[in-house]
Amino acid sequence: MSQFPTIRHRRLRYNPIIRDMVRETELMKNDLIYPLFVVPGSNIRNAVKSMPGVFQLSIDKLVEECKEVRDLRIPAIILFGIPEHKDEKGSEAYDPNGIIQRAVRAIKAEINDLLVITDVCLCEYTSHGHCGLLSGEEILNDETVSLLAKEAVSHAEAGADMIAPSDMMDGRVAAIRKALDYKGFTKIPIMSYAAKYSSGFYGPFRDAAESTPAFGDRRSHQMDIANINEALREVEEDIKEGADIVMVKPAGAYLDVIREVKQRFGMPTAAYQVSGEYAMIKAAGANGWIDEERVMIEAATAIKRAGADMFFTYFAKDIAKWIDRTRK
Ligand code: PBG
Repeated sequence: MSQFPTIRHRRLRYNPIIRDMVRETELMKNDLIYPLFVVPGSNIRNAVKSMPGVFQLSIDKLVEECKEVRDLRIPAIILFGIPEHKDEKGSEAYDPNGIIQRAVRAIKAEINDLLVITDVCLCEYTSHGHCGLLSGEEILNDETVSLLAKEAVSHAEAGADMIAPSDMMDGRVAAIRKALDYKGFTKIPIMSYAAKYSSGFYGPFRDAAESTPAFGDRRSHQMDIANINEALREVEEDIKEGADIVMVKPAGAYLDVIREVKQRFGMPTAAYQVSGEYAMIKAAGANGWIDEERVMIEAATAIKRAGADMFFTYFAKDIAKWIDRTRK
């Protein structure tokens, strides 16, 4: 039997003070990780057309941007590199003087209170745009894993604070952990892209990172969009291999996966609100079809409410400014 009129839910929505008191999920700056794209050269700030507000930055501009991010009290960034040269083996990915390695050293030389995470994958560095070494059209697993471990070590040697493998090869977390430990980087955590789906939402990123595959797609290593049990097996395996933080990606269309991963494993859980999620909000906002800021906050709150402890978002600076403006 209904409890009405004894129970009236609207009593707790009566005014803004009450609403603020009973709010269950609150965005905080500590939730935010800001993705940045670095390119060779100097004084470069190339707008990424499909991601308004996102730029490819040369290292000098990147350092400036990092200072702004730090001043906004956003705790962390993740770096993606566009190399000088691409080749079949993605050599610049593990070159001590590669774009990421130089970028990390430049940031660390000037800023000591910003966590620098590096994305470990080969797709930005290979001439064919695939995430690993090829044999014909097949992406080789184990040979690729050795190179990813080498890439991770070179990032750590440059000063990276955390390593985030996004390739979805099998066994890469274990290989990276072993390689880092062997070189003395026992303290450097691994955040694995553990449940990374083969998603249409990555479209704009591939413009930004210039990493569109020359043929085929990523379905032989990224996950089928339809599966959640498989995601849980992926996450479980990465935890066993030594992942310190597990990530679900994309975020908005996979809130069920975030929830299940957090509840089942109780691990620090990250989510990645990807380029397409950002681009859709930006595009509809620019057309006046939605209120961009309101939807930005709604989408971010949903990711946290689902169970994410932290999330990657191209809106990080806007969310930080919103927090500054709206919190007493
Ligand atoms: C691979 C990588 C991708 C993204 C992050 N790391 C692209 C892909 O798997 O094709 C996508 C991020 C986004 O869409 O914002 N290095």
